[in-house]
Amino acid sequence: MSLIVPQNSLSRRRFLMGSAGLATAAAAFRFPTPAIAQGAPLRVGFMLPYSGTFAKLGKFIDDGFRLHVEQQGGSLGGRRIEFVQVDDESKPESATDNMNRLIGRDKVDLVIGTVHSGVAMAMVKVARDTNTTLIIPNAGANEATGPMCAPQIFRTSFSNWQVCQPMGKVMFDAGHRNVVTISWRYAAGDQMTDAFKEGFTKAGGKVVDHLALPFPEVEFQALITRIATLKPDAVFAFFAGGGAVKFVKDYAAAGLNKSIPLYGAGFLTDGTIPAQGADATGVKTTLHYADDLDNPANKAFLAAFKAKTGQDGDIYAVQGFDAAALLAEGLKATKGDWSARKEALAAMRAAKIDSPRGPMSFNRAGNPVQDVYLREVRNGRNELVSIAGKAVDDPARGCRA
Ligand code: PHB
Repeated sequence: MSLIVPQNSLSRRRFLMGSAGLATAAAAFRFPTPAIAQGAPLRVGFMLPYSGTFAKLGKFIDDGFRLHVEQQGGSLGGRRIEFVQVDDESKPESATDNMNRLIGRDKVDLVIGTVHSGVAMAMVKVARDTNTTLIIPNAGANEATGPMCAPQIFRTSFSNWQVCQPMGKVMFDAGHRNVVTISWRYAAGDQMTDAFKEGFTKAGGKVVDHLALPFPEVEFQALITRIATLKPDAVFAFFAGGGAVKFVKDYAAAGLNKSIPLYGAGFLTDGTIPAQGADATGVKTTLHYADDLDNPANKAFLAAFKAKTGQDGDIYAVQGFDAAALLAEGLKATKGDWSARKEALAAMRAAKIDSPRGPMSFNRAGNPVQDVYLREVRNGRNELVSIAGKAVDDPARGCRA
């Protein structure tokens, strides 16, 4: 166990260690006095993918969060912040152990994570069982802010339903009637394509086939051949990270981008355009962000992110940045005292954040209420076309909070 002890409490610590042993010492530091609580840094656990197909996404979330903390001089709400990291590798089977290690061994005060919906579901379960605060900076698993909602669970990203349902009407209004959906076969892929289908069939369109492959496979050839045979009016896809890069390139290499327009959830082209190049041009997606959003928060964020990392910010960096902004709201309300967590959590639920994405507030389940934008890849960027849904609120189906 590593403890950070203020100088003036050293003799007290020695006394405890000497007289009553480690257990008493550990207990004393588990329930610190407010003075110690505010002096010691708040321990933030990052559980993110730092390897695999989502590695860049995890890194950008991490960079975005740290950027916000650095802008506040290393503190949030006056409380110094320190970090512990674990690479979740986007592996659901390791998620419970990773989470328990952060909470039990590393003694973090809260957890920030993750990208993959399946991993996030296991994290949500542990966060509920151990009453640990969890801020999800990407994964869209509907359950996290639905049937599994809890006062200590927040999301600064989106629900899988929220960013895809509005695309149904957009594609119908563009004249498409028969559409094929394609994704990885796991929670996010299933829920995003289902949400699109819900919006599209409600508008009057028909999903003629759904194609899927296991996560994180990228052997798309057979499925692309199937699309060419089916000849739908358009395709709606969810892939992200390295998988999205390869899918968009393979789709163009097969020549389908010339005959069957490609649409998707914004992850298909967010943070990926440098690697996709001209093959991404013309792809239309819905997301709660666009690169050229003309608001002061976005301009300042993109400039600062570029100065820190040398790279162009994207939705993942924004979501990490906003996770820190949300935590700051809680710490400001308690003057940095995390032992007054109940008050901090209430302030976080009520927060209104001036995000680079535009205004963001939270529903009763802790999911953002936010605009969803239609974007098109032009000039190597995801440029804003229109607002596909204003202040879209996830229905939080099954949340009894
Ligand atoms: C998810 O698994 O929820 C997920 C992963 C990557 C994304 C978006 C959602 O870009």
